[in-house]
Formats: sequence, structure tokens, C-alpha cells
Amino acid sequence: MSGYPNGFLWGTATAAHQVEGGNWNNDWWAWEHNPMSPCVEPSGDAVDHYHRYRDDLKMLADLGFNAYRFSLEWSRVEPEDGEFSHAQLDHYRRMAETCRSLGITPIVTLHHFTTPRWLASRGGWSQMETAERFGSFAHWSIRGLADVVDMVCTINEPNIVATHGYLTGLFPPGVRDPDAREGANQVLIDAHHRAVEAIRAAAPGCLVGMTLAMSEWTAVDGGEAMVEQLRRPMEDVFLEAVAGDDFIGVQTYSRNRVSPAGYLGPEDGAELTLMGYEFRPRSLEATIERAASVTGVPVYVTENGVAATDDRRREAFIEQALDGVERCIDNGIDILGYTYWSALDNFEWVLGYGPTFGLIGVDRSTQRRSVKPSARMLGHIARSNGRGS
Ligand code: BGC
Repeated sequence: MSGYPNGFLWGTATAAHQVEGGNWNNDWWAWEHNPMSPCVEPSGDAVDHYHRYRDDLKMLADLGFNAYRFSLEWSRVEPEDGEFSHAQLDHYRRMAETCRSLGITPIVTLHHFTTPRWLASRGGWSQMETAERFGSFAHWSIRGLADVVDMVCTINEPNIVATHGYLTGLFPPGVRDPDAREGANQVLIDAHHRAVEAIRAAAPGCLVGMTLAMSEWTAVDGGEAMVEQLRRPMEDVFLEAVAGDDFIGVQTYSRNRVSPAGYLGPEDGAELTLMGYEFRPRSLEATIERAASVTGVPVYVTENGVAATDDRRREAFIEQALDGVERCIDNGIDILGYTYWSALDNFEWVLGYGPTFGLIGVDRSTQRRSVKPSARMLGHIARSNGRGS
């Protein structure tokens, strides 16, 4: 292959609620404690990354990574409507500064699934007003971080927030209504646009984009029309909304098989991950291609990974996913970086601490970290900016 471009971002990612611990002031914490929700356990102390981020970042830098994607917890930074916390923003400033001092580019996500309780209780993503509130939060936060952060993801997977929050009912607020999902899609797109504008005003030169959950779509037995129908509200409306952004964040875990009747689930006999997905690292190539061709903006793989107990399957997954990334680069697609999800084993939302995605394992009874062989493998690739010939 022609090789990874200079400055390619080799990173890992986390999200505040999944790793920090103690995020009691958001809608997810309430959801975890709601007996009607499908959550299997509360997030609790998570992996205490809020206090241990320095050691965690040092470990990632020593392994060879040059980028780290993390999120701000909105409910900490703006615990009540319009009341912003300088002390909490300073925490995230220290995280960004620590990254930089270790040679790691910090990439900040402003919303990763969790919404402050004060806003959720006013209707959250079902209300147009939320887009405006998000724009203010984006402006205030990025103005305060402008000298230490130059890459921002506005909303993590708005399609998942809308689909699971308002169609399947798996995420808060647990609504199951196709019209409500359409409405949330529109509010999230508007929020993204407002945030892009706010960030560009607060930090000129900062790169901004949204990240999207994208699947490889496989039509089975003539399911092509159904693929189009399901994919439109799930991916296409968002891909069409990112024109003019600096990048599109692609996040891929597996594929969707679709027949004329709808989703089929994994193919018989397929190897399954701990999430119940088909083990299918090659899906990433298909989603990068689609994101690039539909949006025309540079692609940044902001999440890709596998929940596996056997770390050798994680190594195989990464190797095969990178085969696809390299083919895309060879074919001329502008790819800014590859981010493995996740740096640490963490709180996998409704499924709790069962599915382990991390390159670094965590014993939550002691909070002791253990570096898995896959971390060393990917760290080595990161340090060499490629896999050699
Ligand atoms: C989310 C992460 C999640 C991961 C694995 C993505 O949808 O951004 O928060 O842990 O997938 O399921």
C-alpha cells in the first residue's frame, strides 16, 4: 500500500459516562435506576477515569498512541440551565493539557449520549429548544478550551440517540414512536448545525464534525428497497446534513442484513461478538467508502472495535479492519485517523459491564488496569504509522 499519511491519528476513545463514574446528574443515571428500563446494572464509579485519567493517558502514550478521543459530561459543565462550572471545565482542560504534554492530540466530543437532567425533564431531544441549549453549551465550552483543543466532535451518533431514545425505547426517555424518532432526528441535526457555528465562532481553525453509527448494509432475498427505507432515517439524513463540515466521524461495528420484511439478524453459523453482532471487521471498509462518497468530506474513523473475551479475536478484528482502511487510502479516500473503541473496558450502556471492548482491562473491585496484547499490537502499529511492508 501507499502508506498512512504523515500525521495520521492513531487513537483510542472513551465517553465520559462510560468511564468517569458518579455522573448522577444526567438522564442515563436516572434511566439506570428506573426499574422500567432494560438496564442490567448502574454505572456507579465506572472505571474512575475522572480521577485516574493521568495514569490512563500515560499508559496510552507509552503504548504508542498519538490521539485520544474523550467527551465532556454536559451535566457537569452545565449542572443547571445556564449555570456553567469553570471548575468542571478546568478538569477537561487538564485532560487536554495532559494529552498534549504526552504527545497525544486531544479530540473532544461534546455530547456522548448523556443529557443533563434539567434538560431531559424539559423534553430533551424531542424539543427544538434543546438544539439552542446545545449550541450555547458548545460555545461556552469550546471558547474555554480553544487554546488546548483543535478537533471537536459535536454529537456522538445522533442516529443512535434518536433511534434508541425514541423508536426502540432502549435508551432514555424510552419512547417507541416512529414520528418521535423523526422529530428527534431533526432536533439533533439542528443542534449539530448550531454547534458547528458556535465552535467556529469560539475557536476559529478548530476542525469540527459529527460522528455517525454506520453499518454495512446487506440486502438478502431482494431486500434492496427495504435497505433504502431503513437506512434513510438511520444514516442518510445525517450524511446529507454534514456538508461543509471538516470531517465525518465513522463508527462501525458490524453489518445489518435486511430482507424485504426487515432486519434479519446475524447469518446462521456466523461468529458472534459479546454484543451479539456478527464478527465482521470488513464492514468498516464499506462504511468509509459510503461516508466519503455521500458527504465528500474527509473521513475520520472515530470508533471501531469489538467486544471479545479472547483478546486474539480483538487482534484479528483490528488487523482485518485495517486491511480495509488501507484499501480505502489506496483508492484515494482522505482518512484522518483510526480510533479503536475503547481504550478501557467500560460501562456498555444498557448491557452494563459485561461486554468488554477495551484494549486495557479493568478490575473494577480494585480499579487495577491490565494492558492486553491487542493494545501492544495496535500501539506498535501507531508508533510505526503502519504495519510495514
Ligand atoms: C457508542 C459507544 C459504545 C460503542 C459500543 C457506540 O455506539 O458510541 O458509546 O460503547 O458503540 O457499543
